[in-house]
Amino acid sequence: MVIGEMTQMARSALIMPSAIPIIGRQQELASIIRRYEAVRSGLACVVLVSGEPGMGKTCLLDEIARRACQSGATVLRGGSSQAEGMPPFLPFLEALGQYIQSSPTECLQMQDTATLQALASQFPELTIQLGNLPTSHPSPPEQARFRLYEATGTFLQRLGASRPLVLIFDDLHWADSASLDLLSHVMRRQQGARLLVIGAYRNSEINQNPGLVRSVAELSRQRMLTTITIGPLSGPEIEALAEHTLGGPLSPDASSLLYAHSEGNPFFAEELLQSWVERKSLVQNQGYWALGTPLDQALPPSIHGILRQRFAQLPPDCIDHLRVAAIIGHNFDLSLLATVKENDIERVEESLFEAVHAYLVRVEQNGSFTFSHDYIRVCLYAEVSISRRRTLHTKIGSVLESFVDQDRPLSTYQLAPLAFHFAHSHDRERGIEYSERAGAQALLDGAAAEAIHHYRIVLNLLDLNDQRGSGLLPRLSQALLLASQAEKAETIMTSEDPYLQLAHLLLEQADSEMGQGNTSQAADLLKQTLALFEAPDMAFGTQQVRGRLPRLVQEPELLASLPSGLTQRQVMILKLVPQGKSNRQIAHELGITEKTVTNHLTHIFNKTNCENRATLTAFALRHGLA
Ligand SMILES: Nc1ncnc2c1ncn2[C@@H]1O[C@H](COP(=O)(O)OP(=O)(O)O)[C@@H](O)[C@H]1O
Ligand SMILES: [Mg+2]
Repeated sequence: MVIGEMTQMARSALIMPSAIPIIGRQQELASIIRRYEAVRSGLACVVLVSGEPGMGKTCLLDEIARRACQSGATVLRGGSSQAEGMPPFLPFLEALGQYIQSSPTECLQMQDTATLQALASQFPELTIQLGNLPTSHPSPPEQARFRLYEATGTFLQRLGASRPLVLIFDDLHWADSASLDLLSHVMRRQQGARLLVIGAYRNSEINQNPGLVRSVAELSRQRMLTTITIGPLSGPEIEALAEHTLGGPLSPDASSLLYAHSEGNPFFAEELLQSWVERKSLVQNQGYWALGTPLDQALPPSIHGILRQRFAQLPPDCIDHLRVAAIIGHNFDLSLLATVKENDIERVEESLFEAVHAYLVRVEQNGSFTFSHDYIRVCLYAEVSISRRRTLHTKIGSVLESFVDQDRPLSTYQLAPLAFHFAHSHDRERGIEYSERAGAQALLDGAAAEAIHHYRIVLNLLDLNDQRGSGLLPRLSQALLLASQAEKAETIMTSEDPYLQLAHLLLEQADSEMGQGNTSQAADLLKQTLALFEAPDMAFGTQQVRGRLPRLVQEPELLASLPSGLTQRQVMILKLVPQGKSNRQIAHELGITEKTVTNHLTHIFNKTNCENRATLTAFALRHGLA
């Protein structure tokens, strides 16, 4: 979301939701501002704020956004989410997407065409703003990913040239690894950009996100990272927070009880206060807010208990709307919710406003709703039975499906939630279909970990003997290679002997790369295959790979003398065609699989411009290859 930009309109969006000034955190603010000053003078850096849920990370980020915006920076914001199906690169898509949408065309034209062209596939807004950009040739995933990473870096660097750029990425513990890799890449390549990235994550959840662990390590190695851990607020700070929330002073008893039970966590403190006021356990008396009705009821043991007490104050249909919304995601669209609930949109909206008044959800600028804190959503989610969740996922998926134009290719934005909801629904087939499509799209985008995630879901949804499983393996292995995780393949695959299967698959792929003359790719593949065979001590496989490796060394020299750019391997296959041999016979003779032969032949037909085996035979005769 754009928090601030050059326009006054965007700047005025920067009001803290509760309009409470930030309390405490002066040291943390000073430290971040020092980094910001370094950025202004031309040094890119990342600040990561870590802390427990509810401790005030988002609040600190908002304060920085507000101050940076006031000092004339461009402030862009993107978040990650655990709940809904999240497309790869979501934080970047949000931050840059909103910038592109809200920028005058002249600002975008300051970027060079190659950059815009590389970004156009991820940001359809660019085409809307600038008209059709020249299309680039489709390239293998690694190249496409590199181009996208470079273009994003250049785009951000240009953006920071006129005024410092602050990117705010909240909830990085949920961020996809594609975004985190992109972040590391941009920081590595744009060290002189006037770019401050400020992110937040839950320190208790970092280990569940290997991508984040990797990025944190890499950024610290590059000395570009400052980490700030925020802890509980002090007693007087919690009291100040309460007085701002309530609009008046708190009695000493109430203040110390609040501090003791919130343990200095501002979110817990706010929820306790709301609950006490709703239940009249805290009442205003002679200008003071003081404790009222019996305390034991007012002090549930956990934050879930506090929240449940608050939900109980809402009318039943409002709370049910919220439960369904919790299945949709952290941010939810009113028309989607109303359609899923088969209810009139105005009535749902009216009912939701009760939850807005109770500070459980808030309305966003674009009219959608967001839970004030993810804890609230998690608590509501837990109240829905597993079977109802499935039914709701099915319904949400179907409504989302009816919202999209199926005649046009679906974007990654549309595919990810469809895949997520159907994968959790009763409709296994649609779960398979959309997860497969989301995986393919992620692979095209160079988002390897997300592609693996989707393919893994497909494999989980498929019956073990379903043929589609083996059809998926080549793409899964491509994603694994892209993620440089071939060695971890065995944990990802679920079929009978996935380890061996993957090794053979890589070997085939290496053969095919070798056949096309891509020797360095083939060498990489062979090395990974070798590792796979060597680990469980599979002598035969190891021998097969070792036999192929030396050929790679000879291959480049041989290429030049062969017709139509055919490789040595392709010529070997071509020579067998005039002998009337079938694919199976060729495969048998050369000790490779039939599929590899088919792949080679496709390339041979393309390179020689031949349409069938008869013209290929003539070609072979003409070039003395028969
Ligand atoms: N320093 C602070 N001053 C005022 N309010 C705060 C402060 N820290 C947190 N809050 C409030 O507490 C609630 C939870 O904070 P939030 O920033 O959402 O936590 P987190 O992002 O760490 O989960 C929010 O309503 C926020 O406004
Ligand atoms: Mg937060």
